[in-house]
Amino acid sequence: MTEVSVAKEDAAAPGELVVLKSVNKHFGALHVLQDIDLTIERGEVVVVIGPSGSGKSTLCRTINRLETIDAGTITIDGKPLPQEGKELARLRADVGMVFQSFNLFAHKTVLENVMLGQIKVRRTDKKKAEEKARELLDRVGVGTQADKYPAQLSGGQQQRVAIARALAMNPKVMLFDEPTSALDPEMINEVLEVMQQLARDGMTMIVVTHEMGFARSAANRVVFMADGRIVEQAAPDQFFSNPRSDRAKDFLSKILHH
Ligand SMILES: Nc1ncnc2c1ncn2[C@@H]1O[C@H](COP(=O)(O)OP(=O)(O)OP(=O)(O)O)[C@@H](O)[C@H]1O
Ligand SMILES: [Mg+2]
Repeated sequence: MTEVSVAKEDAAAPGELVVLKSVNKHFGALHVLQDIDLTIERGEVVVVIGPSGSGKSTLCRTINRLETIDAGTITIDGKPLPQEGKELARLRADVGMVFQSFNLFAHKTVLENVMLGQIKVRRTDKKKAEEKARELLDRVGVGTQADKYPAQLSGGQQQRVAIARALAMNPKVMLFDEPTSALDPEMINEVLEVMQQLARDGMTMIVVTHEMGFARSAANRVVFMADGRIVEQAAPDQFFSNPRSDRAKDFLSKILHH
């Protein structure tokens, strides 16, 4: 019988897509991420919640290296985050990011916004990029807006374009940092519905949100952060009905009874 080969120590297990180990980060004297250990499985939807300033955005930003880390490791699909250069650009394209502010290019049409990264980073030819952009714009429900400029769209429509733009890169994982916080209430659902559908389609997602309905219905796991630490994590049902830490109890009592 042959020996089973031993996996390299750093190699991710087959199902693991994003792995953070002992990640630490400071902003000056502020220890903003403290010994973060977090593993996201392929196809998993993880909702990150916690008080303002707890480090949720910083956590997201380290995962596509918009922020550097001081210590620890981050791997995406088994590969450590590159420091810089072409490799970093490629890796960033594997990690789609959607922010609170939609960050579309104002002087490009909706269609061009969704084509641009495909052409520049993925080196897709123009015709293919356009086909894919149109298909994705249809998928998020704004296909008829393709030739308009971002400012001519509602916030909810712009955010759906931003999602289409991220998806156009064929990302392995999508990060959402409060994607609905800047939207008028009547537009929140149209964006959440697109995200729900993505989750159902099996996209791996990390979502920072205050939308507890989304967390309950779409998340496989809720990660609760406070003061730069992951204080607890659990399945949504368990977390919302039976939070263990005082910090989480306190946080939930504030957001659920306001
Ligand atoms: N570039 C920066 N320089 C210095 N301090 C920063 C920087 N970015 C964030 N911080 C600080 O780091 C801490 C964590 O910020 P972060 O934005 O990650 O929190 P958050 O959990 O996303 O909060 P919110 O719910 O308000 O979005 C805060 O105290 C913030 O002021
Ligand atoms: Mg934030």
